[in-house]
Amino acid sequence: MQTTDSVFLRHFAQVIAALAVLTVLLIVGSWKIYDAQGFHEDNPAQVAEAASRIAPVAAAYSGETGRAAILAAEAAARAAATASVAFDGALDAELIYRNVCTVCHGTGAGGAPKPEKAAWASRIAKGLETLVKHAVEGFQGEAGIMPAKGGRADLTDEQVRVTVEYMVNKYR
Ligand code: HEC
Repeated sequence: MQTTDSVFLRHFAQVIAALAVLTVLLIVGSWKIYDAQGFHEDNPAQVAEAASRIAPVAAAYSGETGRAAILAAEAAARAAATASVAFDGALDAELIYRNVCTVCHGTGAGGAPKPEKAAWASRIAKGLETLVKHAVEGFQGEAGIMPAKGGRADLTDEQVRVTVEYMVNKYR
């Protein structure tokens, strides 16, 4: 072997050895960093936290499948919102009237019929069923806008009905 060859081989062996040492150092170093970060995939709390950080702020959909998923999610959200019924579903007309309807009907705000017989006579003449329908579904007359269920979508139809009956009986 020529001297230049053996010099080359010595240097080459040194470089390989240095690279091998560097590899081991990098492995150990990255393991240490992983450990110090304290993030481990078997910790459910950390996984949930990470998922919440990278969760999308909004969803886009494409195609019918994505659309169906979004509609289903909206329906579920609506069902959850209406699952809690106002006043625990109590059919206490006076309670509902005082808490929901008097905001407008107590003062005549926005053209709402006031709590007096004169204001209700022409309404009562329409018949109870019409008034209940208008209260449940909402109604726009000449005086103003009666929002559906007085703006409380969490009232049941039955709760609105007893309240209308209560108002009608009070001012008939
Ligand atoms: C945001 C104000 C507002 C609230 C709250 C409200 N109303 Fe009304 N309501 C009105 C207005 C305004 C009218 C008159 C609409 C018209 O005839 O132009 C009206 C009309 C009515 C009528 C008569 C409908 C008709 O056909 O003449 C009934 C019955 C009625 N409201 C029931 C209720 C009940 C029951 C509640 C509570 C659950 C309620 N309202 C809450 C504003 C309100």
